[in-house]
Amino acid sequence: MTAMSVIEKFTTMDYGPAPEDPKETLVWLDRHSRKFGHFIGGTWKSPRDGKYFETRDPSTGEKLADVAQGSAADVDAAVKAARKALAGWQALRPHERAKFLYALARQVQKHARRLAVLETIDNGKPIRESRDIDIPLVARHFYYHAGWAQLLEQEFFGYKACGVVGQIIPWNFPLLMLAWKIAPALATGNTVVLKPAEYTPLTALAFAEICREVGLPGGVVNVVTGDGATGEALVKHASVDKIAFTGSTEVGRAIRKATANSAKKLSLELGGKSPYVVFEDADLDSAVEGLVDGIWFNQGQVCCAGSRLLMQESIAEKLTRKLQARMSTLRVGAPLDKGIDIGAIVAQVQLERIDRLVKQGIAEGATCWQPEVLMPARGLYYKPTLLSNVHPTSIVAQQEIFGPVLAAMTFRTPREAVELANNTVYGLAASVWSESVNVSLQVAAQLKAGVVWVNSTNLFDAACGFGGYRESGFGREGGREGLLEYLEPTWFRKAPAVRNGGKREKGEAPEMASPAIDRTVKLYIGGKQARPDSGYSVEIRGKKGELLGESPLGNRKDIRNAVEASRKAEAWGKSSAHTRAQVLYYIAENLSQRGGEITRRLAAAVGKKQAAEEVRASVERLFSYAAWADKFDGTVHNPPMRNVSIAMNEAIGTVGVVCPADLPLLGFFSLVLPLLSAGNTVVAVPSEKYPLITGDIYQVLETSDLPGGALNIVPGRATELLKVLAEHDDLDALWCYGNAEICTTAKALSAGNLKQVWSNEGREIDFLSAKEGEGRWFLQHAYQVKNIWVPYGE
Ligand code: NAI
Repeated sequence: MTAMSVIEKFTTMDYGPAPEDPKETLVWLDRHSRKFGHFIGGTWKSPRDGKYFETRDPSTGEKLADVAQGSAADVDAAVKAARKALAGWQALRPHERAKFLYALARQVQKHARRLAVLETIDNGKPIRESRDIDIPLVARHFYYHAGWAQLLEQEFFGYKACGVVGQIIPWNFPLLMLAWKIAPALATGNTVVLKPAEYTPLTALAFAEICREVGLPGGVVNVVTGDGATGEALVKHASVDKIAFTGSTEVGRAIRKATANSAKKLSLELGGKSPYVVFEDADLDSAVEGLVDGIWFNQGQVCCAGSRLLMQESIAEKLTRKLQARMSTLRVGAPLDKGIDIGAIVAQVQLERIDRLVKQGIAEGATCWQPEVLMPARGLYYKPTLLSNVHPTSIVAQQEIFGPVLAAMTFRTPREAVELANNTVYGLAASVWSESVNVSLQVAAQLKAGVVWVNSTNLFDAACGFGGYRESGFGREGGREGLLEYLEPTWFRKAPAVRNGGKREKGEAPEMASPAIDRTVKLYIGGKQARPDSGYSVEIRGKKGELLGESPLGNRKDIRNAVEASRKAEAWGKSSAHTRAQVLYYIAENLSQRGGEITRRLAAAVGKKQAAEEVRASVERLFSYAAWADKFDGTVHNPPMRNVSIAMNEAIGTVGVVCPADLPLLGFFSLVLPLLSAGNTVVAVPSEKYPLITGDIYQVLETSDLPGGALNIVPGRATELLKVLAEHDDLDALWCYGNAEICTTAKALSAGNLKQVWSNEGREIDFLSAKEGEGRWFLQHAYQVKNIWVPYGE
């Protein structure tokens, strides 16, 4: 036998097995007799109806443990325990809560290896990932939020915790999702009932044990295991104040509907189909390496996976060749092997789903390429897969596959890249690869996604908010904005119910009547006054029944026209904050100049005193939001990588607004102005009771340089128009002020495209007071945060 040269050895060298020893973790499972109850009120509780389910290792099929199947009674017990613990938890000084969060971070670090192995055997993800990514990030989340717990009173003065929070998490990052949910909830003084996913309950149970070890008061964190039915019981529980959910868009939609008839605050982190855009001037080798993390990390079971590869045509062939070469070196196999890149798929049903979608993609014309890599003989595995020539409308370009499957397409210009990238109902994340800072940042700004990674991918940090646009959900996790999901103004829950939720009082039902008597008020669409499509007007009467005038009756078609006009006016959002501020100041100036006349007309409807107050406060409100326009800035985060993350406050887009009935002028401005100040375009339904004042508003707007279409006004029957707005698929958000019934309708009907709904939950907001009626709370709902990660260094 001839001796091998060093070069030969180097080129033929292969990986030997490098298995992680799971012994300690198996001992831990045995210590629990491989059988777990729920963690309620600080102790382990057997399920009331004695039912358990099995959790298995997807790489071997071996059973790991029996876990309690939570019933509605178990959920009820957990919610009661959380409620009981709430007052005591909130009575602690922030520093005391901070100490608990710090202890949780420390304890996670002490048990890091056990948690990593447990995660890997329950989920199938490579140990390299659970050890180096999931668990360190879990600890980082508790450290970071220990800091917020400490600073809470200084930094969030005027806010308080929502109360008891129900949290439902998926199986792809079981412990990390738990940390994303529990850390901010505890830091802000909430108590928690968490339901982990049925495929991966074990690390949540290990975490429950950690809560006990650090002496967290019983009931502050409760863990109820089970399936979708358990989750549903938690969502529907009357004594839960907020639901935070991560999972499929389908279930997110069901939860939106199920919580509509309640004042539960809701945040949803749902699916994605994130674009991975590579320009011709990109560093292609880095882009290929990025793809390994983008789509093969965690077997592609990542909500923000870069699952759509968009390549500039000129480099498509070269990039594909490089990619295929790299794919051929990926190692698929036992997740506990430290040299493995791709582990096991979480469950048989998920494997079948991946296979079904890939076959459908091929049937729709995609070319499928898979490398010749060794595959394990048993267990749930799927080869890394590249689908090329994918049509943008193909199922594999549109639906979340949640597997190691990349769908590739090409584009020619940056503009086409943005169009293709945004051609999805989702908007969770995106990656942009270009060596040109101008191209990458310009494209990043135009992408509809909550997170954009420049020349990088799948980076996460507790300081940098994460969350979606569109059907990827709403709300953010991480950062300051993530905390706001668990807080609300102190006065809000105590506010009285609205006296008349935008509905006409009895005896005042609008009647169809002949056209206007002395003054014709129209709709205001695209900067022009327009007649209502219905051709109807309604009489508007004052408090004593006297005829004040006639107002047009807007309908579905008018709303559709108004939304279209708003979409065309999106340049308003691109205008500089300075420009927007100037326009708002100018509206204030013109309103003030016509103040006497407007007060007189308004007085006929609401009385002299209220009219004068409304006009005065409206001018002030205009000044406030003009002031805010160039001051509600984002932040730059400094995560522990060589990156800065630019957290930009972005306008949401086009927003529908249903205004309060009783303050026709001030109520209208209080809701419309924060949205305009942020750069949104608006379709507003003014007070149904006294809509006539909008006729005067048009004239003020027309003389104030507000671009046509930025603000559209459609008077009419509030409940009817609200339904049209809520069901409209091209609206990004809906703000609704009214009684509980109206707020429920807004939330329930918005589930179609999952637009964000912000409502007064049927409670009265005192718009005449600056404390309740304006400021940050409104602006926080008028913007959404986009985190753009920019690397630095060589
Ligand atoms: P899923 O959305 O059904 O499950 C997520 C969590 O919600 C689990 O804890 C589950 O028990 C719970 N749940 C299910 N139905 C519920 C209901 N009606 N009310 C309350 N909670 C409920 O996701 P699943 O079935 O595990 O995966 C299906 C697909 O969803 C995946 O193929 C993937 O495309 C997507 N998915 C997306 C995730 C993401 O992070 N974006 C995470 C998990 C799945």
